[in-house]
Amino acid sequence: MSLRYQYIFFLSLLAGFSHAQTPVKESIGFYQFESDDPNQKPFFSDQKGVMAKNGIVASAHPAASQVGVDILKMGGNAIDAAVAVQFALAVVHPSAGNIGGGGFLVLRDKNGKSHSIDFREKGPGKAFADMYLDKDGNIMPKSSTLGRLASGVPGSVDGMVEAHKKFGSLPWKQLLQPAIDLAEKGVTLTEREARGLNNIKQDLTAQNPGTKYFLNPTGKEWATDDQLVQKDLGKVLRRIQKKGRNGFYAGKTARILVKDINKNGEGIISKKDLADYHAQWRETISEDYKGYKVITMAPPSSGGIALIQLMRLTEPFPLQKWGWHSDSTIQVMIEAERRVYADRAKFLGDPDFVKVPKETLMSKDYLKNRWSDFDWNKATDSKNIQGGVFPGYESLETTHFSVVDKEGNAVSLTTTLNGGYGSRVVVKKGGFFMNNEMDDFSVKAGAPNMYGLIGNKANAVAPGKRMLSSMTPTIIEKNGKLLMVVGTPGGSTIITSVYQTILNVLEHGMTIQQSVNALKFHHQWLPDKTTFETNAFSAGAVKKLQDKGYILEQQRNTIGRMDCILVLPDGSLEGGSDPRGDDTSIGY
Ligand code: DON
Repeated sequence: MSLRYQYIFFLSLLAGFSHAQTPVKESIGFYQFESDDPNQKPFFSDQKGVMAKNGIVASAHPAASQVGVDILKMGGNAIDAAVAVQFALAVVHPSAGNIGGGGFLVLRDKNGKSHSIDFREKGPGKAFADMYLDKDGNIMPKSSTLGRLASGVPGSVDGMVEAHKKFGSLPWKQLLQPAIDLAEKGVTLTEREARGLNNIKQDLTAQNPGTKYFLNPTGKEWATDDQLVQKDLGKVLRRIQKKGRNGFYAGKTARILVKDINKNGEGIISKKDLADYHAQWRETISEDYKGYKVITMAPPSSGGIALIQLMRLTEPFPLQKWGWHSDSTIQVMIEAERRVYADRAKFLGDPDFVKVPKETLMSKDYLKNRWSDFDWNKATDSKNIQGGVFPGYESLETTHFSVVDKEGNAVSLTTTLNGGYGSRVVVKKGGFFMNNEMDDFSVKAGAPNMYGLIGNKANAVAPGKRMLSSMTPTIIEKNGKLLMVVGTPGGSTIITSVYQTILNVLEHGMTIQQSVNALKFHHQWLPDKTTFETNAFSAGAVKKLQDKGYILEQQRNTIGRMDCILVLPDGSLEGGSDPRGDDTSIGY
């Protein structure tokens, strides 16, 4: 242990905040906001949580949450509801809900066993490391984000088929029906959905010439309360309803998808890529934090490992005593985030292709060492931080929803097309958006992707390989019982938003809705700056941190779009959905 770390550690022991000495307070909802800055605010809004006895679905869209609760009321379990919500979101929330994308599902079943399924997209068979570089080695602008070359092989449909096969209780057909109804009869656009579609009109027209997909048939801009009818998507959903995975990966849907993607030689997904795609059950990451069990997603998401690293890096510090968004709390969280995102860039990738040293990265000894160059008086310079060193190897749109059913099964599911409306390519006669997930690969070593994330060899493009993700669907248990279901979209900010949302409850005593409402901040190693939501930090904290060399940027954009559920001490449920979006918890 370096002298400096010994010093910090010694101080923390003196202050009596080693893990054993300061158990987290038991009660929920004891949070009291105090600040000497009248402009600082704790919450984005004072929205209240939704309380329920039997079950809750928290998702990005009220119609999708309603579909999920209807399934629960029909006797379906949390997996049934999750499958129905995934398909419903593909209809009502086309910017991120999808059948042309992928995601991750974490399940804690009623017996306390945890499971996870990886339905992340894969690089097509013809993909190769330098496919987005020109002959001089420069990235071809937008080639991995816009248009037909930007798509990985979609995983969502097979993910749902697998989840249902193993854990579903209602017939598959019944779970597809609500989405089919919404597609064929139409969904009422919220203001946000209308605005989203209007904003991408130019790309839609450019990427899908000669079609009118997602354009208002009246020729006008979309407006709130307009009906969006999606007949072609309805037909695809009917094929999936009838034939399961073959309704998407084979037959007519596969034919129209491959035809569209390969139009004019623009894209490379083949029929074989579709036929070969299989979602994969993976062991969850299940790790202890102060007696809580944190159950989260393993690679090819970086989210789970990074979340555990963050929680363990700040575990020795008295965050509860220092208080939410005090300058010391912010400082150690930033420094933890800087180190964790450096590790992400260096070590993480698809475990089927690269060896990910996950035990080491999450080990307390390794993490202790990561503080060796920390100096309270001065921001660490990201230039001087690289992914850690240890001997040898050991063995901006996404959507998240959370479901708890009356038996105590819990699902945490994050799914995405990557950017809002993905590649902006709508499969002709299919009516669904394709993802632009290929940008989550490191298309050139050291070059930032659309979230500013840097990657390396571990995450280089390869055929059949899954691109690294930040999605962090997470479930927490306490004393062998379900406590919390957490997750959010937000690209690189997913990990730090999930981290803050958990700490807000466990350390700062917020209710789940307060924690969702709470203003957030983010640092990701590079670029070396901390962004924070308007009024999230007090002027005093900003000054202190700036004096130490931290670059702080207050931003208008919001951070996180959480949809979470908390089990209260009496066993009832609180749904916390983000006031930053159309997100809605519905319970019964
Ligand atoms: O898998 C990932 O990490 C990204 N494709 C997620 C994208 C995302 O969250 C966009 N949302 N705002």
